[in-house]
Amino acid sequence: MNPFKIDGIVDGADYMPRKEGEALLEYHKAGRNVLVRGPRRTGKSSLVVNTFQALDCLFIRVDFWGAKTEARAVEKIARALAPFCRKMPTLSGFNIGGIGLQWKSPEAIASVEDLLRLVPGLHKKKPVVVFFDEFQALLDLPDADQFLGALRSEIQAQPEVQYLFAGSNQNRLMEIFYAQRSPFFKSAALMEVGSLERGPFVEWLTAKFIDTGRAIDPRLWDAIFELTHAIPGDVQDVCYHLWNDSGEGREVGPEDFGATLRRVLHERASGYEGMWNMLTDNQQKIAIGLARYRDDKYTSGEFMQLSGATSPASVKRGIEALESKGLIWMSGRHWIFSDPFFALWISNSVE
Ligand SMILES: Nc1ncnc2c1ncn2[C@@H]1O[C@H](COP(=O)(O)OP(=O)(O)OP(=O)(O)O)[C@@H](O)[C@H]1O
Ligand SMILES: [Mg+2]
Repeated sequence: MNPFKIDGIVDGADYMPRKEGEALLEYHKAGRNVLVRGPRRTGKSSLVVNTFQALDCLFIRVDFWGAKTEARAVEKIARALAPFCRKMPTLSGFNIGGIGLQWKSPEAIASVEDLLRLVPGLHKKKPVVVFFDEFQALLDLPDADQFLGALRSEIQAQPEVQYLFAGSNQNRLMEIFYAQRSPFFKSAALMEVGSLERGPFVEWLTAKFIDTGRAIDPRLWDAIFELTHAIPGDVQDVCYHLWNDSGEGREVGPEDFGATLRRVLHERASGYEGMWNMLTDNQQKIAIGLARYRDDKYTSGEFMQLSGATSPASVKRGIEALESKGLIWMSGRHWIFSDPFFALWISNSVE
């Protein structure tokens, strides 16, 4: 079976322990709430889950992804708490009746406070840790400010519970924790999570090839890390495909790497073409420029020439549009593609 896991939270043998876990535990000891921030697919959710699952505590994770209404957000919290509530309480406007959660009234705002008030009492002896993942989704609620305000005031009244926050959209998370008008303004310590340390990560990945009867030419790592910008989820993705094309007792070498990339691009070509055709002429030019340009001076003559953009303003517009479509994101000072294979497809297939 392919030993590389390319999607979602990883645990057990699929999780490589990382030193940020210790820093998280320090915050835990100090009783600080923490915002875990970092680029997409770097392992923020996996880090929090694995660190606290190994600790003797009551760990509750709420994933707010797709919570478009207050009712849905409250339901997500209720479902996460339900396994730990010995006696199912009836809340104002809300009834946690076993699995089937039923709405009695639409007063979600009152309910979220009632629900959170249960948290400190969930365990008498173990510390309680609550992890709000995909927290930025709450900005999509019709009355986001009021909901966040209610959450914030209840969290503030619970110094004995540690609350952790993370999410996949960094800009929107910053809106919650760093916009002055936000109820959560500077309410949590900030912990940055970047790529996994390359040396130990390469060793860990190499062992996965070896444990499954394969080997990998160490010269390939430079190319893999360059293609993926060292994003752990994307590195695993490339390894996953290399492994799929490999055979037992064989070493994966440079030719195999090229063949695998060609195969993946070929398989995805029609999807990429579809995506490409949805872009405007200017967005396509900027995408070509970004796929080929290595520097960070996006309004320079060199970038304009490479992309064919007509003015710095059109570069800015194109970048904004590509970002809002989720195709690119800012890593440090560089714009990089969310899907490294798409960048490769653009620089190889588009004239
Ligand atoms: N510690 C780790 N060991 C091994 N693989 C990891 C580790 N952390 C992350 N990964 C890889 O990255 C992928 C994404 O992990 P995870 O969902 O935890 O990241 P995330 O930062 O929470 O992502 P998102 O920004 O989408 O919320 C995993 O499926 C796995 O392939
Ligand atoms: Mg995550």
